[in-house]
Amino acid sequence: MLFDPAPKIRREDFFDREKEIERIKSLLSPTTLVLGLRRTGKSPLIRISLEELGYPYVYIDLRKFEEKTYINYKDFILEIQNEINRLTKKIP
Ligand SMILES: Nc1ncnc2c1ncn2[C@@H]1O[C@H](COP(=O)(O)OP(=O)(O)O)[C@@H](O)[C@H]1O
Ligand SMILES: [Mg+2]
Repeated sequence: MLFDPAPKIRREDFFDREKEIERIKSLLSPTTLVLGLRRTGKSPLIRISLEELGYPYVYIDLRKFEEKTYINYKDFILEIQNEINRLTKKIP
């Protein structure tokens, strides 16, 4: 659904970015920076490309730590742990 605020990981939920998805898929290297203004769809662009390539990936959304006045490393490590668990569940 185009206007669903949930994180998008499927191309059909993402509007008019076909060229950009293909570009990321063909140019992806160990270090790839996707730069642009906030809220312009960089995150879904990266996730859709990785999903379509079928690469295992860990996605950490650091926005949830933005409001914090101190860095809580335990929460950060838990975030990584949850993502790794999600990843290992996908491996047959
Ligand atoms: N082309 C698009 N089609 C559908 N939804 C989009 C599109 N571009 C951005 N969005 C949506 O707008 C919101 C902002 O995108 P976000 O992922 O926060 O951008 P960024 O990572 O660049 O800051 C998200 O809910 C995203 O899914
Ligand atoms: Mg983002």
